[in-house]
Amino acid sequence: METIFDAIKNIALKIDNAIKTSEGGYATSSNVTGDTQLKLDILSDKIIEEELKKLPSIKAIVSEEKENLLTLNNNASYYVCYDPLDGSSIVDYNLSVGSIFGIYENKLDGANIIASAYVVYGPKVEVVITTKANKPKLYRLYDNEFKFIKEISMQEEGKINAPGGTQKNWYPHHKALIEALFQKGYRLRYSGGMVPDLHQVLLKGGGLFSYPGTTDKPKGKLRALFEVIPFALTFIEAGGYAIDDKGVSLLECVPKFLHDTTPCFFGSKNEIELVKEFYNGK
Ligand code: AHG
Ligand code: MN
Ligand code: MN
Repeated sequence: METIFDAIKNIALKIDNAIKTSEGGYATSSNVTGDTQLKLDILSDKIIEEELKKLPSIKAIVSEEKENLLTLNNNASYYVCYDPLDGSSIVDYNLSVGSIFGIYENKLDGANIIASAYVVYGPKVEVVITTKANKPKLYRLYDNEFKFIKEISMQEEGKINAPGGTQKNWYPHHKALIEALFQKGYRLRYSGGMVPDLHQVLLKGGGLFSYPGTTDKPKGKLRALFEVIPFALTFIEAGGYAIDDKGVSLLECVPKFLHDTTPCFFGSKNEIELVKEFYNGK
């Protein structure tokens, strides 16, 4: 497993360099979900594939930008599912973006994720690595090397609210939940990139990030294997919570297909209790 984390740190250096030096803008292709791909989406996917191909412990990989699983070593047991560049709609405007990795053993579902990692490409480059039953570990890049900074723990309540999705298409109970948080004094903190938005909730120790099902996308937008389940592991190991719109832990999520999506709520204890109250029976 350590070799996979080392590879992810290497990947972070390379993608950070690609973001800073390569051409922006769209390619002419689109991915399975139908998003038009950025040149950087494709380049980041390639960088990760090349690095992970060197590791004998990985059975197969699949990413947001690949239609199918790519088998690497038949006799190995780890699957790596990743979002090479999260934040395609904001990277060309110089906002923070990220990469997300989920490491699964045997089966691709919430119950079988054994580790996760994400990289934040912001004013600083940071990596957060989580293994089952251990607090997430934060590393920061200084002089081309990642230094361990601290373990991440969440409190029972925070002050910030990061509500995703198109507001016009929110269900009334979701609108009521978000309004209730603002009435309680929560402040809006939403960049449009789930990596920096979730990173802020985690490091501030509390708050809520939501990407609900909406009238136009009842299963939400965020992809279970590449985005949601990896962050669910991080939040839960940090002492926070990650649930779907039925109140079920996202570590129980069983995607129906590789690119399946799910409504998702990540936060500290009190905010997640509030989500459950507003979603009860909906
Ligand atoms: P990606 O760039 O990998 O397609 O995903 C971006 C995600 C996520 O970062 C963010 O929270 C969400 O898309 C925002 O989407 P909308 O702006 O479409 O609501
Ligand atoms: Mn993404
Ligand atoms: Mn992406």
